[in-house]
Amino acid sequence: MSLSPPLNLADYEALAQPLMHPAVWDYVVAGAGDGITLAENRLAFDRIAIRPRMLVDVSRIDTTTSVLGASVAAPIMIASSGQHGAICAEAECATAKAAGRAGLAMVASSGSNRTIEDIAAVATGPLWMQLYLFPDRPRTVALLQRAEAAGCRAIALTVDSPRWGRKERSLRTEDQFNWPAQANLADLPPATAVWPDGGAPATWADVDWLRGATRLPILLKGILTAEDAALAVERGVEGVIVSNHGGRQLDGVLASIDALPEIVAAADGRCEIYLDGGVRRGVDVLKALALGARAVMIGRPVLWGLAVDGAAGAFDVLDILRRELTSAMALSGRPTIADIDRSLVR
Ligand code: FNR
Repeated sequence: MSLSPPLNLADYEALAQPLMHPAVWDYVVAGAGDGITLAENRLAFDRIAIRPRMLVDVSRIDTTTSVLGASVAAPIMIASSGQHGAICAEAECATAKAAGRAGLAMVASSGSNRTIEDIAAVATGPLWMQLYLFPDRPRTVALLQRAEAAGCRAIALTVDSPRWGRKERSLRTEDQFNWPAQANLADLPPATAVWPDGGAPATWADVDWLRGATRLPILLKGILTAEDAALAVERGVEGVIVSNHGGRQLDGVLASIDALPEIVAAADGRCEIYLDGGVRRGVDVLKALALGARAVMIGRPVLWGLAVDGAAGAFDVLDILRRELTSAMALSGRPTIADIDRSLVR
């Protein structure tokens, strides 16, 4: 069976593997521990059934929506992930071009191989920056100011990584590759010295501190319970990203899509709710929106697209998902994003 041209994201995965260095492949596809959460992220989507409506006029399908007030072509974003430079020479600049061409938003990792300024310079869609809090506050403030000056529209503070998850598959091979430097940290000692505890701890007090340190909207990435969503809303954050880090942090936590309903209920419309983890099909986007997500974020598949054909490959991954979503909206009788409601899934 020929996978070229790739028809779906699984085709991109199969095409990408032989093109990536084995250590980079292991780093990208790895989950923590036994990979239980990694697998659950997919299985949980497949357990949700769609309740389609018929005889609706679906001659025009409109996937446009907005994320934190910015118009986008579809409720699909690029999740923050590091080391694009290990996959493609243009690194995160290629990814940003793909997002812009697709009319979609991107979250740049604070651990990117290109500086936030370089990424912003080529980004034509909304750009957010993900943040791992440095124990050194002045350094954190300096990076926040750079993100603001570069034109980033929001900060996504990752809250699920007070220790880096143990991705054993990657631990076995990571020494076999010469990893490109994290460009935003160019003037800093190695990551082990920046985070001496082997992770980026943050507490609710740090969220309050962050509010005073930036004028940008704040999202908390990695929330998995109604309890924490309620605390996030009390602190006035603009958004929550329901995520288990693609199964790369604590193995055994629930699938993102299974965590979504209680978080949507707890937030009760007081902030925007995003989701990542295991989104591989247009119907997954449809299900997440039906359960209350504003938009979904895509991690690994964008990296497979980068490996296959740089910016063009990453664009095609996003475009395939958008086209699948368009088809799913038509076949379920939901011509606009506003028509996608809770009654669509069981
Ligand atoms: C990530 N992720 C991540 N998250 C984050 O907040 N900062 C980061 O630097 C990274 N780096 C990173 C690298 C790689 C290779 C992967 C695969 C993931 C997690 C990412 O933002 C997102 O939560 C998941 O990737 C979503 O799951 P899927 O779409 O990969 O299943």
